[in-house]
Amino acid sequence: MYVGKARAYTNIALIKYWGKKDERLILPMNSSLSLTLDAFYTETSVYFDKSLTEDLFVLDGKKQDSKQTAKISKFLDLIRQQQNLSLFARVDSQNFVPTAAGLASSASGLAALAGACSEALDLQLTETELSRLARRGSGSACRSIFGGFAEWQKGDSDQTSFAKAIPSEGWENELAMLFVLVDDGVKDISSRDGMKRTVETSSFYSGWLENVEADLAIAKEAIKERDFNKLGEVAEANGLRMHGTTLAAVPPFTYWSPESLNVMQLVRSARQAGLPCYFTMDAGPNVKILVEKKNLTALKNFLAEYLPEQKLITAFAGPGIEAIPIERSEDL
Ligand code: ADP
Ligand code: DP6
Repeated sequence: MYVGKARAYTNIALIKYWGKKDERLILPMNSSLSLTLDAFYTETSVYFDKSLTEDLFVLDGKKQDSKQTAKISKFLDLIRQQQNLSLFARVDSQNFVPTAAGLASSASGLAALAGACSEALDLQLTETELSRLARRGSGSACRSIFGGFAEWQKGDSDQTSFAKAIPSEGWENELAMLFVLVDDGVKDISSRDGMKRTVETSSFYSGWLENVEADLAIAKEAIKERDFNKLGEVAEANGLRMHGTTLAAVPPFTYWSPESLNVMQLVRSARQAGLPCYFTMDAGPNVKILVEKKNLTALKNFLAEYLPEQKLITAFAGPGIEAIPIERSEDL
């Protein structure tokens, strides 16, 4: 048996990945930039075992159905093919993040799976190689290999599409992200399906592509200059543009709920009251607010007048992927 375990943290994009140019290889239409966070993560163990007759996927203690397991098998097939291995595997994963709620469980989940497979088979991958591998599971997962800020350079082939850390000399530790949990249930349209429908049908998608690389350049400049407002402004605008594309898809859809709009307006009001903070949203109704640590308490106090405290979760910059040591026996 080959056994490996890894922990990976979620990341939230400040410049979004939205659309694929190659669905099989998961090559994105645009580059993206994210902050890895400490509050939400996944721990995954993989057991390649000769006694198994099929792959098994257990998430949060529950055996997953054939559709979910098939996604895992697809990823395992890639590894099996690369490593010339014919063993089935049991994947046992624990999400310390709500699953499929727009809180980036796919990023931490697939990064942890890639890390666990790499540990199990002792692949000795570089961070770049691990990022490429995680990308094949879920695009955003390639950024979760790194702590702090990461940039996924879109590339134009399997070799050239991977994430790398953006050095920020510890500035990321002066920032916080406040999650406003509007709804942590499973969303109707996954990121994968939502971006596919948008690329294929939305007349607004070309507008997204026209702006996103410029947004990325501004975000990188802001990180270099430690300019919080510059980073926040471009992240908020970029997120809004991403969500704008869904409204012109056929059929149209949105990830926003009335409560999301309410929280976005609260963020604008907090800003008008002199508190620098900016929102971003992913494929779900939850809102994430970027704020400097020094203003976190003031922001929470501001929001407390309108929202119950239980809806708020604070996250700070998190680390990159970590291997978790476990007993390994190689009795093949
Ligand atoms: P989210 O906003 O949570 O990332 P997505 O719809 O993008 O939502 O992705 C959710 C999907 O990611 C799940 O349906 C599942 O296929 C996959 N996923 C989530 N957690 C894990 C995990 N721990 N291990 C493997 N796959 C996972
Ligand atoms: C809105 O990485 O979940 O969160 O590559 O199809 O697995 P797949 O999609 P996924 O999409 C994330 C989309 C996003 C923006 C982002 O994280 O950059």
